[in-house]
Amino acid sequence: MRPIILLALAVSACAPVAGPPTWHRDIQPLVKEKCGQCHHPGGIGPFELDSLAMMRAEEGRVRPAVTSRRMPPWPASNSCAEYAPNGALTDDQLALLELWYDSAAPEGDPKTAAPQSLLATGLSRVDRTVTMSEPFFPQKSPDEYRCFVLDWPETAPKFITGFNVVPGQPQLVHHANLFFIHPDSVAAYQAKDDAAPGAGYECYNFPSPIGEGGWIGTFVPGSLGADFPPQTGLKILPGSKLFIQVHYNIVNGGPKPDRTSIELKLEDKVRREGSVQAWADPKWMSTAGAMRIPKGAADVTHRFSMDPTPYLSLANRSFLDGQPIKLYMATAHMHAWGKSARMEIERADGSKDCLVDIPKWQFHWQLPYSLKDYKVLNPGDKLSVECHWDNSEANQPVINGVRQASKEINWGARTEDEMCVGGFFISQ
Ligand code: HEC
Repeated sequence: MRPIILLALAVSACAPVAGPPTWHRDIQPLVKEKCGQCHHPGGIGPFELDSLAMMRAEEGRVRPAVTSRRMPPWPASNSCAEYAPNGALTDDQLALLELWYDSAAPEGDPKTAAPQSLLATGLSRVDRTVTMSEPFFPQKSPDEYRCFVLDWPETAPKFITGFNVVPGQPQLVHHANLFFIHPDSVAAYQAKDDAAPGAGYECYNFPSPIGEGGWIGTFVPGSLGADFPPQTGLKILPGSKLFIQVHYNIVNGGPKPDRTSIELKLEDKVRREGSVQAWADPKWMSTAGAMRIPKGAADVTHRFSMDPTPYLSLANRSFLDGQPIKLYMATAHMHAWGKSARMEIERADGSKDCLVDIPKWQFHWQLPYSLKDYKVLNPGDKLSVECHWDNSEANQPVINGVRQASKEINWGARTEDEMCVGGFFISQ
């Protein structure tokens, strides 16, 4: 018997309500919160972990997965900043799960089950669902990038306060980027969509955040959507359109018609207008070779840092230049050669305030990290994004079943290229 069990028995002897952890009281809520998002029927996890029977049957796989911190996926370091929600198991939760298995995984009393409201839910309310007007049949193998322009149904200004993307064919939707288009840029995008036969059009470019529209968010398999930070929202004028770029990959599913939907939570008013901003060196995109990753190099770094405050009105028409901004959420984007990533605020006094630190990049887990309390960036501070790549012979990724040959890599949208982008939810 391990000492930890003796401790639990000793505790239960003097406090009869405690005792070893039980499924109903302790483990089910934990599993729902930290695993349920993916390991539910139809979820992206390879099996379900939504019942006592499954948790007992899968002990041999669950224990090593959680103790090695492979599961739940949460590549960010929790010593950089405090996040809420936080996808990682806390040390206490991990100890509880291990103690439960050590105690022969008792069921306990269903009457002690935690109330549903404590559990992670994703998007809290759906006020509008916008669906692709006709199905799209992805057939290019393996990858196809398709953009769709969708009608915005509201007739008065509204704020989007949360979103979720519901893929019509979850097996085929590798990821999706969601935007809105300002009324004065709608005609140009509608014309591109109308000119191509079938639903949507092939595309690699998004509406420019400078004048044409704004980013709403990104969908990756497993995400249940999310509310934006309390009291914030993205302002959408009547006459706008939604724009979604879907990256289809038919390797795992075979071609099937897809009609993806967007679920939105809406409000008439919010306290602070928000904006979702991508952060990368404009030179990386405009100048060939500016983000060069030489063939064979095992540690290549590119870094961009700048004070964004003089340019805020370009990012959002309602923002004022030269004013502080609040940062609520941060995420990093790289491709398959990524090694680590870090985003921080470099204070005018030289100190650094960590936003997200991903010590070991995991291509498949590009998660958003919501700061428990927002951080303020003042004029004179800089916002930085730093990416490291490993392009050595030994670290060539397998893309669509093919191990890549080592070669020089540059900035580009395709999986065979690289990127280094920070994403932030901000307000003034
Ligand atoms: C965000 C989605 C997501 C969450 C949350 C998640 N998983 Fe997973 N899990 C996956 C996917 C996808 C796979 C298969 C691919 C892989 O192994 O990365 C997987 C694989 C596994 C495996 C088998 C592979 C291995 O690494 O041993 C186990 C066991 C597992 N998960 C347990 C858990 C447990 C326990 C939790 C919660 C404490 C959890 N997972 C949370 C998505 C998730």
